[in-house]
Amino acid sequence: MRTEGLLTGRRRSGRKGRGARATWLGLLGVAGFAVGAAGSGPPTGPGAGEKTVSTPYVVLVANDLGMHCMQQDFSEFLILPPFNTVHAQVIDRSGEHPHIVTSGVTVDFAIPGNTTATDKTNWWTYDQALLGVDFAPDVGLTGNGLAGVLSPTGRKDYSITGVPLTPIDDNGLENPYPLATVTVTRNGAEVARTQAVVPVSWEVNCSLCHNAPGISPGTDILRAHDRMHGTELEANQPVFCAGCHADPALGAPGDPDLPTFSAAMHGAHADRMDQVELENDCYACHPGLRTQCQRDVHYANGIFCTDCHGGMEAVGDPSRTPWADQPRCDDCHSRPGFEFEQPGTLYRDSKGHSGVFCYACHGSPHAITPTVTEQDNLQAINLQGHAGVIDQCIVCHSQDEGDPFFHRVDDD
Ligand code: HEC
Ligand code: HEC
Ligand code: HEC
Ligand code: HEC
Ligand code: HEC
Ligand code: HEC
Ligand code: HEC
Repeated sequence: MRTEGLLTGRRRSGRKGRGARATWLGLLGVAGFAVGAAGSGPPTGPGAGEKTVSTPYVVLVANDLGMHCMQQDFSEFLILPPFNTVHAQVIDRSGEHPHIVTSGVTVDFAIPGNTTATDKTNWWTYDQALLGVDFAPDVGLTGNGLAGVLSPTGRKDYSITGVPLTPIDDNGLENPYPLATVTVTRNGAEVARTQAVVPVSWEVNCSLCHNAPGISPGTDILRAHDRMHGTELEANQPVFCAGCHADPALGAPGDPDLPTFSAAMHGAHADRMDQVELENDCYACHPGLRTQCQRDVHYANGIFCTDCHGGMEAVGDPSRTPWADQPRCDDCHSRPGFEFEQPGTLYRDSKGHSGVFCYACHGSPHAITPTVTEQDNLQAINLQGHAGVIDQCIVCHSQDEGDPFFHRVDDD
């Protein structure tokens, strides 16, 4: 199955940057959510007339990555398999003070309208050849399906890992921002519910350059690798790239004498990017021009990939540990009285405000709210009446604490 022509009505866009941004904002009617919408002074209690949560519990959900990139076709090689990981923090707001819940509730997850995967990608045909495991239909690498129950993580939240989601819904339409419904029940009764984006794309455009006539992009890639490095990949398909090039995302140690997968890809392609004219080179592969992975408050402020990550050479620097050495909010942000990530900890794993995860108030990386996509703003709008950071105390506190808001990290 091919994805061309299966767009969901989102705008196909060939040009990026400021012009495209203006059009996106206008198109989605969210211009008013640009930075500052969350208020520039220190946050306060709920504004008059603000819609607020009224359930005894609140659940705040985010995908661990702002965009999970995968392939649709695994017959030639594996870069990244279907694998979405979703986190949820549950807060009991019924008492005098809010209380982070770690037991005694059931946290259910489902993606209405995207309930199968085996019919949408050939992953389950090649899993055995690539990884030596034959997964049951619609079951992902960690044994989870497309719906299920989140487990306590032992770090004050719940998660479901390795959800084998694809960007094709049950009607065959492409949607890289499917909305999951997460419900919390206690003693059989629903106590909280939310909707959050579980982003996934397989647009990855190797074919922008690997487009030799008469052969597939994959064959072109494997042939180039064999010619340049004396390997025999074309004769040994499907190829597991991380079998030789270490990839922390897959827990693959690779061959220690070879560059990591990230260093190999970014390093080798750094001086090839002028083969195609793109305003943002990263969109050649991440995941593509159509599905822009970055859609956050920074995008709306003209801050793009290289402002935070540096360019191809910086990402391909062999002294980096891929997936672990990442930009930090406090590379750029400083504000009196505010602390950002926990020391030595990624944004996605950091907690502030007495154990509340950053993601609970700010969203996924690359989808830091307010976003230019409607779907990513829904959770905040449903909880507090407006998009952007969760800045209404009443979302979690049922009464005024009397003390001011604090934005400090935890010690643990
Ligand atoms: C901007 C253009 C461009 C894009 C996009 C691109 N490549 Fe390449 N790639 C090249 C060029 C040019 C070569 C050199 C080919 C040659 O000399 O025959 C190359 C070579 C390679 C090689 C051979 C090994 C080596 O030393 O580089 C591999 C493997 C490869 N590309 C993988 C990929 C994959 C996987 C993707 C998509 C995720 C991709 N490329 C996207 C331009 C590109
Ligand atoms: C059998 C082991 C093996 C497999 C599997 C393998 N590679 Fe390589 N790769 C190598 C070797 C060896 C080199 C040369 C490394 C060097 O010269 O330091 C290399 C080099 C590269 C380079 C160029 C790195 C650079 O710094 O110039 C890229 C890009 C690359 N591989 C991508 C891939 C991709 C994409 C796949 C999966 C389609 C893949 N490799 C699978 C062994 C492998
Ligand atoms: C030619 C294709 C290609 C281009 C262009 C590209 N990437 Fe990547 N990138 C990849 C692939 C493939 C992976 C997956 C590597 C893995 O699984 O470890 C990746 C992974 C990453 C990662 C996660 C791993 C790590 O090193 O931390 C970051 C960050 C990243 N890319 C940033 C960028 C940025 C920023 C740009 C633009 C300057 C860019 N990439 C351009 C192919 C590309
Ligand atoms: C405002 C800064 C910022 C911008 C802009 C940005 N990133 Fe990131 N990126 C980060 C941070 C921070 C992380 C680490 C996230 C974490 O801690 O969980 C990250 C992580 C990543 C990763 C690793 C996987 C993940 O999602 O954690 C990839 C791949 C990546 N970025 C690619 C890109 C690409 C491609 C762009 C542009 C389309 C981009 N980034 C724009 C800050 C940024
Ligand atoms: C490359 C520098 C850079 C990095 C890294 C960065 N930001 Fe920003 N961020 C900015 C800039 C510039 C703005 C625009 C508004 C401004 O000037 O404060 C902004 C705006 C924001 C806003 C809008 C509210 C405000 O103060 O105006 C939030 C929220 C935010 N960033 C959160 C984050 C988070 C969370 C991270 C880490 C995951 C992060 N930023 C990483 C530069 C950065
Ligand atoms: C309880 C909700 C909450 C949590 C948890 C939270 N934040 Fe915030 N954050 C806020 C609010 C509210 C603001 C202020 C927004 C404003 O002034 O418009 C803010 C502002 C920020 C800013 C922008 C600061 C500036 O003005 O330059 C960054 C960056 C940021 N937070 C990062 C983080 C990180 C990293 C974590 C996790 C360690 C985190 N936040 C946890 C609510 C939260
Ligand atoms: C996303 C949920 C969330 C939001 C939003 C939130 N808080 Fe909290 N807050 C908590 C949790 C959880 C605790 C920890 C309570 C505990 O220690 O058991 C806490 C603790 C506090 C405390 C320490 C006193 C206590 O009860 O332990 C103060 C003061 C506080 N918050 C003020 C605020 C203010 C003011 C706002 C609005 C600007 C706010 N909080 C927004 C979740 C939240």
